[in-house]
Amino acid sequence: MSDRLIKPATSISGSISLPGDKSISHRALMFAGIAEGSSTITGLATAEDVQGTLKCLKNIGVEIRKQKNKVTVNSSGMYGLRASQKALDAGNSGTTIRLLSGILAAQNYISIIDGDESLRKRPMRRIIEPLETMGARIDSREYKAPLTIHGGPLRAIDYASPVASAQVKSCILLAGTFAKGLTRVTEPAPSRDHTERMLKHFGANIHHKDGMAGIKGPIQLKSAEINVPGDISAAAFFIVAGCLLPNSEVEFINVGVNQTRTGILDALAHMGAFIKQDDLLLLSNEPRARLVVKTTRLNAATFSGLLIPRIIDEIPILAVAATQAEGTTTFRDAGELRVKESDRIATIVENLKRMGANVRETKDGMVIQGPTALKGAEIDSYGDHRIAMSFSIAGLIADGETLIKNIDCVDTSFPEFFTILDYSCHA
Ligand code: S3P
Repeated sequence: MSDRLIKPATSISGSISLPGDKSISHRALMFAGIAEGSSTITGLATAEDVQGTLKCLKNIGVEIRKQKNKVTVNSSGMYGLRASQKALDAGNSGTTIRLLSGILAAQNYISIIDGDESLRKRPMRRIIEPLETMGARIDSREYKAPLTIHGGPLRAIDYASPVASAQVKSCILLAGTFAKGLTRVTEPAPSRDHTERMLKHFGANIHHKDGMAGIKGPIQLKSAEINVPGDISAAAFFIVAGCLLPNSEVEFINVGVNQTRTGILDALAHMGAFIKQDDLLLLSNEPRARLVVKTTRLNAATFSGLLIPRIIDEIPILAVAATQAEGTTTFRDAGELRVKESDRIATIVENLKRMGANVRETKDGMVIQGPTALKGAEIDSYGDHRIAMSFSIAGLIADGETLIKNIDCVDTSFPEFFTILDYSCHA
């Protein structure tokens, strides 16, 4: 396990080129894997998690070739997959295990899908129950990975998900492409809609609006070309660095600005940040734009309700921003953070305290009083990539050096992170 020493920076500047969006990349590979014909993907994420999805698909018979920036996926369609000889490995990735389970549940064979130590602790009941209602049988120990999926013919369901989760919704919609009839998912607050947009792009007749999505199956998807936009969740770290470091200006081109993902921009704008957006373009049914961020003094805010699914992956870095904002920042309704790659409420609060922040943990969020001058400290990432990256940014604005323990996890989503940090931040 490697550690990384972060030294304070005086500013950040330049144009940052981002890896492809992780959520969209997983979906592009999986949908191409069940779409009949040859699909091409450009801009696929470099994230280890996405490479994990790619390997799983190869293991179930999907032919995937990589040439430079282009990936070609050849599939004989939704009934062309075969059983894997060994257990499928989803690694650290909740998206891989949950979405792929939706496809595996419809196959006429048994599949085993497993993951690393962190993934084995995460809740799978949220997908097991609806998939079993659709007709699959899934064996597990206390609803955790490894999952043994006894697939077979599925029936459509009308499912009211108790959590706002794009992974749950996408799992059911993918299973719904195989099931006869209308499969519908409603959720308490709208989560990211990449699945719905991409299903449409692959030729499916899908309806979605305000936390409800429905698909009529069975439907054979048709091959497509996909260009993956830059990952706004990766940009978030450097957007916050641009706000917090003095004399800074950072540009990002071709960033995904799907409105179910831009909560970070709305949250920071609400705190008074300067973020300009232009060059808007819709490609592969996903909007993207250029963003420019400049240094600003931030004010505190309250984040809750419908905004939470739109900032779910950005709360760790927003919490770092909140330590520098004038007043009391409150995060509420964010209990889902406790079942991510780490219990993010606990890991954010503990590490912020180590840096001297004024922060209090609550059941479903936290309260942060700012501004506080952070001091360099030893940080434990707990093997969680977003904790490692958020606290690296905190280290840039801290007084003294910060040691981030266990940074290998960063590769699961953003292998280029430290290279970008090194070239764009100035001592
Ligand atoms: C993801 C959805 C989110 C998010 C995760 C990626 C996806 O999880 O936290 O990083 O690709 O669908 P939930 O929808 O389960 O909250």
